[in-house]
Amino acid sequence: MALAQEISHRPPDVPGAWPLLGHIVPVLRRPLEFLPSAAAFGDVVKVRFGRLPVYLVTHPDTVREVLVPGDLDYTRGRIFEKLEPALGKGIATVSGAEHRRQRRLLQPVFTRERLIGYATVMRTAAEQVTDSWRDGQTLAMDEVMNDLALTALTRSLFAFTARPDTAQAIKEGMRALTHGLLLRTVLPTAWERVPTPGNLRFRRAMARMHGAIDDVIADYRQAGQDRGDVLSVLLAVRDEDGQSLPDEEIHAQVMTLALTGIEAPGAALGWVLYEIGRDREVAGRVRAEIDEVLGGRAVTFDDLPALEYLGRVINEVLRLRTPLVFMRRTLTEVRVGRMAIPAGSEVIYSPYLLHHDARWFPDPLRFDPGRWLPESSGRIPKGAYVPFAAGAYQCIGKLFALTELTMVTAAICAHWTFRPAGDAPVREVATALVRPDRLPMTVHRRTRTARG
Ligand code: HEM
Repeated sequence: MALAQEISHRPPDVPGAWPLLGHIVPVLRRPLEFLPSAAAFGDVVKVRFGRLPVYLVTHPDTVREVLVPGDLDYTRGRIFEKLEPALGKGIATVSGAEHRRQRRLLQPVFTRERLIGYATVMRTAAEQVTDSWRDGQTLAMDEVMNDLALTALTRSLFAFTARPDTAQAIKEGMRALTHGLLLRTVLPTAWERVPTPGNLRFRRAMARMHGAIDDVIADYRQAGQDRGDVLSVLLAVRDEDGQSLPDEEIHAQVMTLALTGIEAPGAALGWVLYEIGRDREVAGRVRAEIDEVLGGRAVTFDDLPALEYLGRVINEVLRLRTPLVFMRRTLTEVRVGRMAIPAGSEVIYSPYLLHHDARWFPDPLRFDPGRWLPESSGRIPKGAYVPFAAGAYQCIGKLFALTELTMVTAAICAHWTFRPAGDAPVREVATALVRPDRLPMTVHRRTRTARG
């Protein structure tokens, strides 16, 4: 909401800022502990990245005030802007009217008809991965699920590529981008120009990925066919003047979808298997539902609404293991709750913080799909559960992601059981996302009588 004249409250400073560095050290060292400790000071609080003031909104109401509608008083903010040199001007880095234009042009990528096609790609990718599993084998499930998400997305992006190293180039590029993101967000931009080994590795990975995507676009332009994939849609899209999109914009959208569409569902898939695998009751109910709905045949897009319990399991995973922080920047001085935030300020919201708040999710660390039964979920305030954000810049890939999580989990659970291997606890590591430090799991092929 734009500022009303009578507002005068300034958000409280979070104590513990270091000279010059502000809160950079605790943010980088212990982000999962720092966020709730900062939130204890109010619904809107002020922290510092070096000398840069950053406002953290911590209450579902103040978060919604920032996110919805979102692009009138706010631009995208620092996290995604930091990605612009790598991604180009795609949907996740532009703001305002240009963002609305791109969002409209990208809608045909996510229609129901297209999702049905991607769903088959996802199931096939899952079946191909599990075909290589051996009964009793222990797998690094986080890596396996990341690779599966990479395959599902790259084949949805371009069903056809004659070049064997395209997927690998995308994988390495995306890893480099997401792993350094938190660091690049809090450090000054000048640091990125320093030729550290990490910065050089980052530049090499980006150059390979750009080259791979340019090659695929050139191949597609030459072939000129609709292959039922995202790139075919992007090449067919026409703007209001009937012009096709320039290669530069198509390149930026492919980069953007690869950045946003691999690591997040990959990490979430690992967590879904982990939560199912470590709880016999949850595993038993998931499998019983899959057996009943599918009756032994392969899962399809049309089955998804009937997999209700699995849907609640996925909702609960997306509550517990959710992205850490996103940002906006104020265009004018704005009022959020009773606080005034100056024009040009960085604002942070944290799905992770909201989703772990005991006021909205009692006993927040407990994995409980029952929270998502209609009689319980109605009590959760709007803005308290935002795994895909809300408002103008919310996740355009939400249905793609939910389809992927459900299709892949159903395809795996129909034929396999899995349990975490060993007793070592699995820890959360905060990068741009929250991922497991390691996820060894032992898999067993299901027999007719095997349940749970
Ligand atoms: C579990 C998986 C996923 C999660 C948790 C997730 C979460 C999010 C969130 C929270 C945002 C908003 C960020 C902000 O507030 O600035 C976002 C944006 C976005 N996501 Fe996702 N996402 C997921 C999967 C995907 C997939 C599979 C795709 C593409 C196929 C995708 C494409 C995008 C794009 C393009 C944006 C920017 C949208 C815009 O600015 O208009 N995401 N995602």
